[in-house]
Amino acid sequence: MDQRLNPYTPGSGIKPRRLAGRDADLEGFRILLGRLGDGQPERSLIYSGLRGVGKTVLLLEFETLAREAGWACNDVEEVGSGDFRQIFAELAYQMLLSMSRRKRMQARATSALGVLKAFTLGLPGGITARIDVEASAGTADTGDPERDLATLLVEVGHVAQTGGSGAVFFLDEMQGLDKVALEAVCMAMNRVGQRSLPVALVGAGLPPLPRLLRAAKPYAERMFAYRELDRLSGAEARLALIAPAAQLRVDYEPEAVELIIGASAGYPHFLQEYGRVLWNEVESSPIRARDVRGAQALISEALSRRFFRDRFETASDAEQRYLSAMAALGDGPARTAAVAKGAGYKDLGSTSLLRENLMRKDLIYSPKRGLVAFTVPLFADYVREHHPLASFDE
Ligand SMILES: Nc1ncnc2c1ncn2[C@@H]1O[C@H](COP(=O)(O)OP(=O)(O)O)[C@@H](O)[C@H]1O
Ligand SMILES: [Mg+2]
Repeated sequence: MDQRLNPYTPGSGIKPRRLAGRDADLEGFRILLGRLGDGQPERSLIYSGLRGVGKTVLLLEFETLAREAGWACNDVEEVGSGDFRQIFAELAYQMLLSMSRRKRMQARATSALGVLKAFTLGLPGGITARIDVEASAGTADTGDPERDLATLLVEVGHVAQTGGSGAVFFLDEMQGLDKVALEAVCMAMNRVGQRSLPVALVGAGLPPLPRLLRAAKPYAERMFAYRELDRLSGAEARLALIAPAAQLRVDYEPEAVELIIGASAGYPHFLQEYGRVLWNEVESSPIRARDVRGAQALISEALSRRFFRDRFETASDAEQRYLSAMAALGDGPARTAAVAKGAGYKDLGSTSLLRENLMRKDLIYSPKRGLVAFTVPLFADYVREHHPLASFDE
C-alpha cells in the first residue's frame, strides 16, 4: 500500500489512530474533571504497566480532554530523575502563565507567580529570573520540600478555582522520582484534597510505581486510584489492528488477524509495528495470512531495531550477561538466586550492584522480594534469540 498513507503509529508516545480499549479510562477522567470542578472529592490517578502498553498516549488523550474542558495543564512529559522542585516549578510556571492570560484569573495568577518565585529561590536553571514578579516572601520558601510544594499547589488550585476551572499535573515516567519527591507529591496532593481544590495529578510509570508511592506515604494507598495497563484483550487488539486500515478501506483476512494477535500477544506497540510493516509490504487489500508469514522476518527485525536493541544496549557487558541469564530461565519473573547462578556468580550478594543498576536503567524491576522481571514485554524472547547466555562464553 502507499507508504505515505500508512496509518500505524509504532513508537513511544505516538498517538494511535484508534485508541483501543480505553473508553472506561477516558470516561473516568471526564468524571474526575467534573467532580473536582464541582468541589467534590475525587482521587487522582496512577497508571502503571510495562513499556509499550500505552501509558503515555493515554495521558496525551487526557491532556486533550483537560484542555477541551478549559483546565490548565502541563504538556505530558517525562519527569526524569532531576530535582523535583525544579520539575514542579517548571510545570507550575507553564500553568500559571497560561492562566494569567485569562482575564478572570489574571490578578490571582500574578499573585500566585509571586509564591512560585519564592518557591524557586535558590533553584538552579535560571527559572527564578524568568518569573517576572516579586517573590512573595514567607510563602513557599520555608526550605521544607513537602510544605513548600503543598503551598505552591494550593496556590495553583486557588487560581484555577477563581477562574471556575481546574489544573491537572501530568507526570510521565513517575517511577524516576526519588523518595523525597514522592513524599512531597503525596503531601501536596493531600493538602489540595483537604481544601477541595480543583487540582488533579495523573501519574504514569513502570510497574513498581504504586509500591514506591505507598512506601513514600501510607495514605497514598487511598489518595490515588491505581490502574494497571496491560496487553489488550482479543477484541481490543483486533480493533487496534483493524480500525486504522479500515478507515482507508484496507482489510485483513480473519486468519491474518489471528496470527498477528497471537504473535504480538496483544501489546499495543507490537500491534502497531505489525500493522506498519504489513501496510508497506502488501500490494493490495486484503492483508492475508501468507503476507503475515512472509513479512515475519522483516517485522522481527523492525521490532529489534526500534524497540528492543537500544534498550539492551544501555546495559554494560556484565549487565547484559545478567539479562541473558534471566531470559534463559524463561519468560516470567526469575528468582534472583537462580539468575546469579546462571550468570556465573558464586553468591547472590555479588550481583546486587548489577541488579540495582539494571533497575535504575529501568530494564528490570522486582515484582516481589527475591524476584526480577523485565520491564519490556517479550524481552526474554528477544534476548534468547539475539544474546543467548552461551554467547557470553565465546
Ligand atoms: N490503546 C491503544 N490502542 C492502539 N494503539 C495503542 C494504544 N495504546 C498505545 N498504543 C500504541 O502503542 C505504542 C506505545 O504507546 P506508549 O503510550 O508510548 O506506551 P508506554 O508509554 O506504556 O510505553 C505506540 O505506538 C502507540 O501508538
Ligand atoms: Mg511512555
